[in-house]
Amino acid sequence: MAMDPAYIEQIKRLMEWEAARSAPPEEFPHLPDLPAGRYTSQEYYDLEQQHIWKKSWLFAAHIDEIPEPGCFMKWENTGTPVIIVHGMDGEVRAFYNTCRHRGAPVVTEEKGRAPRLMCGYHNWTYKTDGELVGVPEKQDFTGLDMSCRSLIPVKCERLGNVIFVNFDDDAMPLKQWLGPVWNDWEEFQFDKIKLAARHSFDLNCNWKVAMEANMEVYHVPFIHPETVAPLVDSKRNVNTMFPNGHARMLAPAPHETDREHVRAVDSPPDWQEIDTVGELGRTCTQSYTMFPNWVSPLSNYFVPPLVFWPTGLNTTRLELVTMALDWGDGPAPDLWTVPDDSKPNGRDMSPIILEDTQFGEMIQKSMESDGFKSVPLSYQEARIYSFHQSCDKMIGLDNVPEHLAVEQVIGEEWIYPNDPRVSQMEQLQAAE
Ligand code: FES
Ligand SMILES: [Fe+2]
Repeated sequence: MAMDPAYIEQIKRLMEWEAARSAPPEEFPHLPDLPAGRYTSQEYYDLEQQHIWKKSWLFAAHIDEIPEPGCFMKWENTGTPVIIVHGMDGEVRAFYNTCRHRGAPVVTEEKGRAPRLMCGYHNWTYKTDGELVGVPEKQDFTGLDMSCRSLIPVKCERLGNVIFVNFDDDAMPLKQWLGPVWNDWEEFQFDKIKLAARHSFDLNCNWKVAMEANMEVYHVPFIHPETVAPLVDSKRNVNTMFPNGHARMLAPAPHETDREHVRAVDSPPDWQEIDTVGELGRTCTQSYTMFPNWVSPLSNYFVPPLVFWPTGLNTTRLELVTMALDWGDGPAPDLWTVPDDSKPNGRDMSPIILEDTQFGEMIQKSMESDGFKSVPLSYQEARIYSFHQSCDKMIGLDNVPEHLAVEQVIGEEWIYPNDPRVSQMEQLQAAE
């Protein structure tokens, strides 16, 4: 389903309006400072662990990693041992990688393929749908009801070829979680895109410090003068906030840049274009946050998410993923990493990602010092503020101690489809 042409026109008019304004939109709230403790306190980290990571839909895998029935892979990006299994019946499921006997891992390899999953400790055996079907010397267990000892499932759903999990049995369906984003993303052919690259890198800062480097355009002219700046007119950027903490940033190329030309130079012709992508995805730099930890600039060539995983209070694993349509016999496209033999996995972060990650460790050290008190954010950085509001909502407003909380100043009136900027713009234009 393509984006509504009237909506595209509205966004384009909003871009010009954003560039012309001399102050934040009239009704836009003042953003109070974010407390530093949100990045440095064990207390807030524990709340995130308990709520955000246990209740949100999280990117787990691409179907290309477990393409055939019987394929399985370990997935431990949240620290909890999980396996993603392509069932013999074709269904993709997730389970705790935890034997129902004495808790040994059912799977020890990173990846594999087998019609049954067998725990190595005492050989309890499970079908790929989780059912326990084999217990050696079962006669010595009294009253063991095998039907009650299936692997414990983790909620698992797909957006086309992309697999998401949620540890909350009561979580809303993925489609509902994504809401309007689900519709926006239809033009990117998630059911056809293949996994081209997936590499991870360890960073020495809180996951939010790392992620926030990718959630505003304010930094673009300064950090990326050669790389991103020629493509992104940060003044014409339009942020849109969606329900459940998701958001979109849409920035056109500067008027003097011919974006179609840049794309043609940028993107080798043998990379297949996603031809259903509409005008905005084709001509603008857009970036979607999927709450809590996925940031992706989807375009007519790639769906390349950056995914941020806390590995500790001040350490983060950054996953750099490129998904694209079939690239034929040529090398798989990789938007974010470059070959580097000196690195353990043979890859290094690309220049743009090195630019974005360069300050993370130093920011973290500062935040932990007495030299850092709180974070003032501008209107251009509202996507970050709104993300923090969503973090607190997910934790539960009553659960966040006052000294760590953000004020919920961005109200529903700013959440899509509401947008006070539109009427303000229209009034202004009517007056002209
Ligand atoms: S712990 Fe798995 S069979 Fe005993
Ligand atoms: Fe950046």
